[in-house]
Amino acid sequence: MRMIGVARLAVAAVALFCGMPASALAQAAAARRASHALSAFAVAKAERLLRDRLPCLGCHELGGDGGRIGPSLSNVGARRSRDHIAAMIGDPQRIVPGTIMPKVRMSAATAALIADYLSRRARSQEPPAFAPPPSYGTPSGTPPGDPATVYHRFCAPCHGLTGDGDGYNAPFLSVRPTAHASAAYMSTRSDDALYDAIAGGGYIMNRSARMPPFGVTLSAAQIRGLVAYLRTLCGCAGPAWSRDDR
Ligand code: HEC
Ligand code: HEC
Repeated sequence: MRMIGVARLAVAAVALFCGMPASALAQAAAARRASHALSAFAVAKAERLLRDRLPCLGCHELGGDGGRIGPSLSNVGARRSRDHIAAMIGDPQRIVPGTIMPKVRMSAATAALIADYLSRRARSQEPPAFAPPPSYGTPSGTPPGDPATVYHRFCAPCHGLTGDGDGYNAPFLSVRPTAHASAAYMSTRSDDALYDAIAGGGYIMNRSARMPPFGVTLSAAQIRGLVAYLRTLCGCAGPAWSRDDR
């Protein structure tokens, strides 16, 4: 009895301190218990992975940082169950057929940590809505076939409709998306390097992790098609040493 009283008092004191009603704090505490309490270490680890290692914030806003292609993750725990979040991370194409969200390779432990962390993000206030320009189409739908349509749907939001590195999402990224239309730059990149960046994402290429990996979601033929399409955007070939016709 006495312990409960002390705990109540502590909650009320913290509530007073934070300027939050005690009921809101109690609710938050209950939500935390319901969805695995995370240690401060686990929270810090999840935040570091999301900021520096994973591509999620290339497309999603979280706490004011990140892209606007997908829905905000700042309050995703208020909209979606932990199971839904975990399923979306595990196999986005199964949950939303044709979505441009790629399946990202990560350990089961990392996937569980990210799902735990995001399911606890439940700010009551919705972040400001963002509507992509209509010329970009929608981020989901039937998986497209030809490379130009794949590029338009999956790549243009960041790299721009004509590959100038100026898609509607580019202003929300700290690193400028590569200008695929730049012959000066693209002629220094081999086709293999372009393929690896598309399949493996920026992180494994020692570049911005916000360039997502598409190697699980797009087929090898689609990625080869994209490399060929990038060559039409720049009107250039790779360096002589990298070409078969050298
Ligand atoms: C290339 C962009 C892109 C990347 C990278 C990406 N997502 Fe998404 N994500 C989306 C889009 C777009 C949707 C909305 C589904 C749709 O309409 O296609 C979405 C939906 C979601 C949802 C469901 C949200 C809701 O409110 O329904 C969650 C959760 C999610 N993503 C988490 C992640 C996580 C975690 C990562 C990193 C491992 C990630 N996403 C990487 C584009 C992306
Ligand atoms: C969420 C934004 C985003 C999306 C979507 C995206 N990219 Fe990127 N991409 C980037 C950023 C940012 C970089 C620059 C990374 C760096 O320089 O550190 C990049 C870099 C690259 C590179 C590396 C170029 C080089 O210097 O070798 C290639 C190739 C590439 N993207 C192709 C694609 C293709 C093809 C698609 C669509 C299937 C795509 N990207 C989708 C953000 C994105």
